[in-house]
Amino acid sequence: MNRIFSGVQPTGNLHLGNYLGAIKNWVSLQKDFECIFCIVDLHAITIKQNPKELENNTLEVTAAYLASGIDPEKTLIFNQNSVSAHSELTWLLSCFTPLGWLNRMTQFKEKAGKKKDNAVLGLYSYPVLMASDILAYKATHVPVGEDQKQHLELARDIAGSFNKIYNKEFFPIPEPQIFGEATRVMSLRDGKNKMSKSDDSDYSRINITDNKDLINLKIQKAKTDPYPLPSKKEELENRPEVNNLLGIYSALKEEKLDKILNEMAGKEFSEFKKILAELVISKIEPISKKMNDLLKNKDYLKKILKDGKEKADDISSKNLLEIKKTIGLLII
Ligand code: AMP
Ligand code: TRP
Repeated sequence: MNRIFSGVQPTGNLHLGNYLGAIKNWVSLQKDFECIFCIVDLHAITIKQNPKELENNTLEVTAAYLASGIDPEKTLIFNQNSVSAHSELTWLLSCFTPLGWLNRMTQFKEKAGKKKDNAVLGLYSYPVLMASDILAYKATHVPVGEDQKQHLELARDIAGSFNKIYNKEFFPIPEPQIFGEATRVMSLRDGKNKMSKSDDSDYSRINITDNKDLINLKIQKAKTDPYPLPSKKEELENRPEVNNLLGIYSALKEEKLDKILNEMAGKEFSEFKKILAELVISKIEPISKKMNDLLKNKDYLKKILKDGKEKADDISSKNLLEIKKTIGLLII
């Protein structure tokens, strides 16, 4: 059986990278897969969070899922902390994860920065929690943006190692699904950096909640270079900002980059930016409007999360019990 699991952290500033790298792709997957989409609040607290904001951001991501087309009738939506199997399994799997594997994780190195000794244990073991999210449901496929590839490889290694130790195909080895023309959306201010929720400059990203005028302004101000748009992919190699804007256009338009290059070759940026802004607004504004409507009814959003939690609890508690028995923990 195929089962999908993925998640987004409720850390505010949900942006076009989150939408194109993850949520947009999830919508179409609902047709062919059983899907579970989580709001991973336990991952969010690996960096300092304001309690009130964390709560609001959790509902905001829930609203973003629904507004983008995630259907709660078909798909499980819940927040991570409400299903205890995630934390419990994290302890169990941490006993199967060599430190050497965690030491390779580049995201920890980036986030911990130079003051490694001050970084919290949760930030370091973050990928084990992520593996637990996936393996608690025996998920077979995980759709994410490019930046999560290494964490997923770790989840695959943990699953494989557990299977080997107990000599059975207990966990399926989860397959990454990294697809679309924008698996790594870059900052609008610097094409070498990822578009990120935590970038100090709001002009580096398009937030899902930005209004028309702000989207327009951010795209007009986006960094480019003085040359017209190229006609071939190879000519994009040393033009990261141009590559990024064309990638965004192609992903939103749902057309291959080659086709877009054909259409846009030779155009000046002033003209392309106008076309791009119109497209971004036409795709993002309806989502942002729906989100705002949904956020007026917090009880409805909480009801969706509660329904999801019950079903998620059902699946994950059974798997957790099996895992504990496999390890030899006495169940009373
Ligand atoms: P996060 O913001 O870390 O909770 O990420 C949620 C999802 O969005 C994950 O699947 C990420 O891989 C994806 N994502 C985050 N930033 C980007 C980006 N700049 N480009 C593409 N995907 C992204
Ligand atoms: N770590 C992921 C991110 O920051 C979010 C996440 C948590 C996730 N658990 C997951 C993604 C399980 C896929 C599967 O983007």
